[in-house]
Amino acid sequence: MPVSLSSVPLSAVVARLRAAGCVFAEDEAELIVATAGTPAELATMVARRAAGLPLEHVLGWAGFRGLRVSVDPGVFVPRRRTEFLVGQAALRTPPGAVVVDLCCGSGALGAALAAALPSIELHAADIDPAAVRCARRNLDGPVYEGDLFAPLPAALRGRVATLLANVPYVPTGEVALLPAEAREHEARVALDGGADGLAVLRRVAGEAPDWLAPGGHLLFETSDRQAARAVATVEAAGLRVEVAVCDELDATVVVATRPA
Ligand SMILES: C[S@@+](CC[C@H](N)C(=O)[O-])C[C@H]1O[C@@H](n2cnc3c(N)ncnc32)[C@H](O)[C@@H]1O
Repeated sequence: MPVSLSSVPLSAVVARLRAAGCVFAEDEAELIVATAGTPAELATMVARRAAGLPLEHVLGWAGFRGLRVSVDPGVFVPRRRTEFLVGQAALRTPPGAVVVDLCCGSGALGAALAAALPSIELHAADIDPAAVRCARRNLDGPVYEGDLFAPLPAALRGRVATLLANVPYVPTGEVALLPAEAREHEARVALDGGADGLAVLRRVAGEAPDWLAPGGHLLFETSDRQAARAVATVEAAGLRVEVAVCDELDATVVVATRPA
């Protein structure tokens, strides 16, 4: 049972988090207090947060498009900006469509798209066993473990209407520059996109046309800086490209479509 806010010195939790450098100490303290089951658990959670663990790993969940998505230690924390990618996918995915959440991490994207479009046939995959375990708790559909498309059932070839692929896209040389929360607490494989940040995307783009249905879409996130090269990568794979931008969330999404 959650610890009631009135039974704990919330101000002490706020002070501890603020002293540890948490910018949103009040909001975080309320979430931690509301999530803790016992005073001992509360103390542990506050200590973990003060030691620098991402809030979502401390809570065990992240808010994503109105859902509470479980996020296990080491698993990539779904970013608020990625909600835009899901919104773009929802606009283009017909009812009953086959959807694949590739590089699914916690499965947040697939879970949010399924919440918006409950009739989809959802499959997900990731190479990291911890992510796969986590996604299996968050998703109703099957979650496969392995390298990109390799673990997907062959029967999905040519039938995927929407391929969500929030691949890692941080250039290797910039991983060390990420905030400590990401660098120290998210798996390297979730962040490192190779020398120019596009290595995983290149592999996805190379295989996507075989898996997409005619008129099907591959959606992925990119940075402003990488957008032009990312677009060239999917165009070279024979896909038609649109770029959608959301200034409010600082999100750039590439929608690459297999010609019908
Ligand atoms: C940036 S995270 C995105 C996770 C999730 N889609 C999200 O947005 O919250 C990238 C994910 O890709 C997975 N990944 C990296 N390389 C992969 C590969 N070769 N095959 C499958 N998954 C891979 C990582 O394990 C990680 O979960």
